Amino acid sequence: MKVGFIGTGSMGSTLIEALIQSGALEPEQIIASNRTIQKVHNLASQYPGLQVALSNTETVEQSDIVFLCVKPSEFKHVLDEIAEKAHAALILVSITSPVLIKHLESSLKCKIAKIIPSITNYVWSGASLCMYGSRIQTEDRLLLEQLMMAISRPLQVSEQFTRITSDLASCGPAFLAFFLQKWVGAAVEETGIDREEASRLACEMLLGTGKLLTEGGFTLEQLQQRVAVPGGITAEALRLLNDELEGVFQKLIGVTHAKYEEDLEKVHAQLFDHEINRPQY
Ligand SMILES: NC(=O)c1ccc[n+]([C@@H]2O[C@H](COP(=O)([O-])OP(=O)(O)OC[C@H]3O[C@@H](n4cnc5c(N)ncnc54)[C@H](OP(=O)(O)O)[C@@H]3O)[C@@H](O)[C@H]2O)c1
Repeated sequence: MKVGFIGTGSMGSTLIEALIQSGALEPEQIIASNRTIQKVHNLASQYPGLQVALSNTETVEQSDIVFLCVKPSEFKHVLDEIAEKAHAALILVSITSPVLIKHLESSLKCKIAKIIPSITNYVWSGASLCMYGSRIQTEDRLLLEQLMMAISRPLQVSEQFTRITSDLASCGPAFLAFFLQKWVGAAVEETGIDREEASRLACEMLLGTGKLLTEGGFTLEQLQQRVAVPGGITAEALRLLNDELEGVFQKLIGVTHAKYEEDLEKVHAQLFDHEINRPQY
């Protein structure tokens, strides 16, 4: 099996490296193309055997599965380029949330899946969000999930919930890192503790908390109850957080969904600017 990657930026290269390092793929099974070809050459010198494709059509021609890892604004260009070579047996996987499966199925004749990865997949952890088009067969789904299982927990989600599931699984690491950065900054400012020490403590805490909530059998509510004994210090601090963060997450969801809608409109206009009506989703 040969797996192609179009776009080896942040997420394309993260997927390639994680799939090789986890043993899911040998470098020889990978072919990749990127607008700036030097990025693929860099990966090939790091992972000898990885094939550098000089064009996106070469990647498509030589692959059984192709991961499309470019930004939404680049989709039209790439789809036009590869349309002729994307034969019916090929599985094309988009990793981009604001490009709908129906957009892709109407642009290409191959099988279409959407899998939204997360930076956490780099350390073979976190979820990958799987959505399948109408041409995907059971064996295709199993093949994709077996591949993603080496670096993540593949979860099938409804495309209707692409944005909110991506917020949680994909944007979440950035949000939590921001939260900890702010907390560590305040700790340094308020107490004079060494920044590196505070940062290390916070990161170890996050790892342990994640384990308790996934392997340790705790729910989010149970974990708070277990730590925050009535009348104690944690309970006081939780009360403050509850008051101060009132409405923040609703606003956060509002912002991510507004940007998603904007991107959807742009992609749709690029792909179907000859049509009058925007598709329902
Ligand atoms: N970053 C994440 O954590 C994450 C998580 C889940 C999903 N995603 C999705 O993944 C997609 C890519 O994000 P990213 O963070 O990897 O962006 P990125 O770092 O900008 O990578 C995009 C890559 O696509 C290449 N490219 C652009 N046009 C191309 C073309 N016509 N042919 C071949 N390659 C082309 C770019 O090449 P150049 O080197 O020339 O710029 C760049 O290397 C986005 O839609 C994003 O929503 C990202």
